Amino acid sequence: MTLSHLDDVYIIETECFSHPWSRQILEDELNNETSLFLVAKEENEVIGYIGMSIVIDEGYIFNVAVREKYRKKGVATALINELITYGKKNNFCFLTLEVRESNRPAISLYSKFGFLKAGERKDYYSNPKENAILMTKYF
Ligand SMILES: CC(C)(COP(=O)(O)OP(=O)(O)OC[C@H]1O[C@@H](n2cnc3c(N)ncnc32)[C@H](O)[C@@H]1OP(=O)(O)O)[C@@H](O)C(=O)NCCC(=O)NCCS
Repeated sequence: MTLSHLDDVYIIETECFSHPWSRQILEDELNNETSLFLVAKEENEVIGYIGMSIVIDEGYIFNVAVREKYRKKGVATALINELITYGKKNNFCFLTLEVRESNRPAISLYSKFGFLKAGERKDYYSNPKENAILMTKYF
């Protein structure tokens, strides 16, 4: 992902989340040298993205999101595969993330890659209020 993708990623962010990151936060994180962001494209259209923060050998996935009309076609699978390949190459201990406990598509997606439930944060999300499930994949 580069600055040229920012507008498209911001649109996906607002389509997918009740508390989307602002364009400014996305830009700041993209410019952060400890972050890694990737986009998936079809022709010239950005159809999905993934972002992760790296702390030495640990990966903290911020978000993965795919435009609605491109879902169930393996786009998120491709994006997560890239992070897993990166994690393996760089001797990561783990990748971890939080997910709304009602978000079955996402929990199913992460489980397929070997992410396991590592904990819960009560009432972590608002609008609507909901627990977060922590899921971690160890290498
Ligand atoms: C979750 C999300 C990223 C999945 O993207 P996607 O490109 O459709 O996912 P894929 O096509 O790669 O699907 C891979 C696996 O995810 C799971 N999955 C995806 N969509 C699903 C659905 N609607 N219901 C159940 N499982 C689903 C399945 O396990 C699927 O494997 P399968 O095809 O063998 O059944 C997408 O639904 C999305 O953007 N949702 C809104 C944003 C969001 O909630 N992000 C996660 C925040 S933690």
